[in-house]
Amino acid sequence: MLPHALLCLLQAALITAQTRQQLSLNSLSSFSPQSLPNPPAFSLPSSDALAVSVAVCSGDLQSSLPRFFVTNDTSVGIPGSGGGTNVFEIFLDAGLGNWTGLASNGGVLAVENAGQTSFEVGVSNTGPLHQHLNTPPLLGDTTSNGAILFSPPFAPAPNEQPTYPNYTLPLANLTPPTPPSSPNFTLILSPTSSSLAAGLQTGCKLASIQSSGNQISQTPWLRDQDGWRSQWLIGSLTSATNYTAFVIRDSTKVSGPIYLVTKSAAFSCPLVHSLPFCPSVSYAVPLSQPSNANPAYDANTLPSSVTQPLLTYMTNFTTTLLTFACGRDMYSPLQSCADCQTAYRKWLCSVSFTRCSEASPGSASSTSQTTGIPQQPLSALFPQPTNASDRNSNLSGSESPYTTLLPCLETCTAVDRACPSFIGFKCPVVRFNAATSYGVGFIDSGKDGVQGQGSAGTAQDMWGNIWCNGS
Ligand SMILES: *[C@@H]1O[C@H](CO)[C@@H](O)[C@H](O)[C@H]1NC(C)=O
Ligand SMILES: *[C@@H]1O[C@H](CO)[C@@H](O)[C@H](O)[C@H]1NC(C)=O
Ligand SMILES: *[C@@H]1O[C@H](CO)[C@@H](O)[C@H](O)[C@H]1NC(C)=O
Ligand SMILES: *[C@@H]1O[C@H](CO)[C@@H](O)[C@H](O)[C@H]1NC(C)=O
Ligand SMILES: *[C@@H]1O[C@H](CO)[C@@H](O)[C@H](O)[C@H]1NC(C)=O
Ligand SMILES: *[C@@H]1O[C@H](CO)[C@@H](O)[C@H](O)[C@H]1NC(C)=O
Ligand SMILES: *[C@@H]1O[C@H](CO)[C@@H](O)[C@H](O)[C@H]1NC(C)=O
Ligand SMILES: *[C@@H]1O[C@H](CO)[C@@H](O)[C@H](O)[C@H]1NC(C)=O
Repeated sequence: MLPHALLCLLQAALITAQTRQQLSLNSLSSFSPQSLPNPPAFSLPSSDALAVSVAVCSGDLQSSLPRFFVTNDTSVGIPGSGGGTNVFEIFLDAGLGNWTGLASNGGVLAVENAGQTSFEVGVSNTGPLHQHLNTPPLLGDTTSNGAILFSPPFAPAPNEQPTYPNYTLPLANLTPPTPPSSPNFTLILSPTSSSLAAGLQTGCKLASIQSSGNQISQTPWLRDQDGWRSQWLIGSLTSATNYTAFVIRDSTKVSGPIYLVTKSAAFSCPLVHSLPFCPSVSYAVPLSQPSNANPAYDANTLPSSVTQPLLTYMTNFTTTLLTFACGRDMYSPLQSCADCQTAYRKWLCSVSFTRCSEASPGSASSTSQTTGIPQQPLSALFPQPTNASDRNSNLSGSESPYTTLLPCLETCTAVDRACPSFIGFKCPVVRFNAATSYGVGFIDSGKDGVQGQGSAGTAQDMWGNIWCNGS
């Protein structure tokens, strides 16, 4: 017979356990100071790979945030800072944390120091519901008041290689593929001066922020082999301003931050985007302003004097390429005619659509100091008076002088590498005058072309620097 006091205690424990709120598998729960149970503890379901994640939705990193403790041992009672075997603290990184492990008999999650903060708890057996994604958002380009941004890829690009004898390549004016169903992506843009990235980086906190600008459109887009992304066209931004961007996936997963800077008020080139025949073009091009209050050009509004010659070049190139017995004879162990056509399309688009840019406002164009990153290379900028004979004379719509951002030389060498030699495709040689028509030495080293060994190693970075047109 147990002593009466112990019996009472046991009963009390049983009652708490019974009344303790149960969080079910693959569910997301939100708690505010008003809805937090007393004691602040929850029962967890059993799972071989239980993933418990938390996201703090209010408060800031300077104030003391709640602490979260998990146990997978149901005899522990309420886990907490007192510790014990099989008691684990969920450490927070910018307000977000997770515990993943074996919980054969379920477990308990408890909160200490909840104070006045709101938070979310995710319980799953397929990895933490709350995450910081490793892949950042991608900047297309900016104008003085607009921007194009992309989410991280959410679905792979289709990869169907044609086969001999029916070796068919996409038409020059290819039809856009049908997008797969997209997760719920939300873009949050905020002037960098408001220090968004210094606060909580959780979906629930970021979603509560009023995003800058006006979201004109959001569409799924297959830019390149990286896969399907969500594409945003944003207007009504402020010129010459640094912005911080985050992307939230399904309310719980956070990608970013990245930084971007809008162009000066004098910048006059409009954005071009969503061209099925040039899927990676999403940048400012020296055309006159689009008519009828269209914010940017797309495949429906682009003048045919620009698209028709490009489509003819593409068709003729494909015809020539298919004189090779593609799929039957091999010209390379690594490359196919389809790869060659893809590389040629990308190169043709980047030289046909001249890209406008300007020196970052933070830096005098004669110095190499901009964002405080040491030894920053200067972008491949090339001033164009309005009457200059442009690469593509049909893009002479810009009324004011502009500065060209030259294509990265790697866009050209990729064609050279991917195509059979009978095509006769040649890129300019670095020793001679390649740098007058291409950005040289940013991605691959300029002298010997060692891949990734250039001054920037990339065409653009997460700080908003764009060195050459890699699109
Ligand atoms: C609790 O977690 C520990 C550490 O991961 C593990 O060794 C133990 O088997 C788990 N206990 C139960 C009951 O699942
Ligand atoms: C889970 O938390 C650990 C740190 O405790 C962290 O390293 C890991 O990246 C997190 N997992 C995910 C998917 O966010
Ligand atoms: C050849 O392939 C194309 C595209 O894959 C297909 O539409 C067409 O029906 C095929 N033709 C023959 C004769 O198999
Ligand atoms: C998408 O996510 C946002 C922010 O996370 C949320 O406000 C919105 O309700 C979600 N939409 C849908 C359809 O789930
Ligand atoms: C400009 O457009 C005209 C008419 O479509 C075309 O004949 C010409 O080849 C184009 N020029 C270039 C450089 O593409
Ligand atoms: C494309 O091929 C056609 C037919 O062979 C030819 O008339 C035309 O000049 C070619 N166009 C270009 C831009 O090479
Ligand atoms: C943008 O931020 C960078 C780095 O913090 C700074 O050097 C630059 O002056 C800023 N530009 C503007 C226009 O505020
Ligand atoms: C462009 O205009 C300037 C000044 O009006 C003139 O000096 C120059 O020769 C012109 N260039 C061309 C290629 O027409």
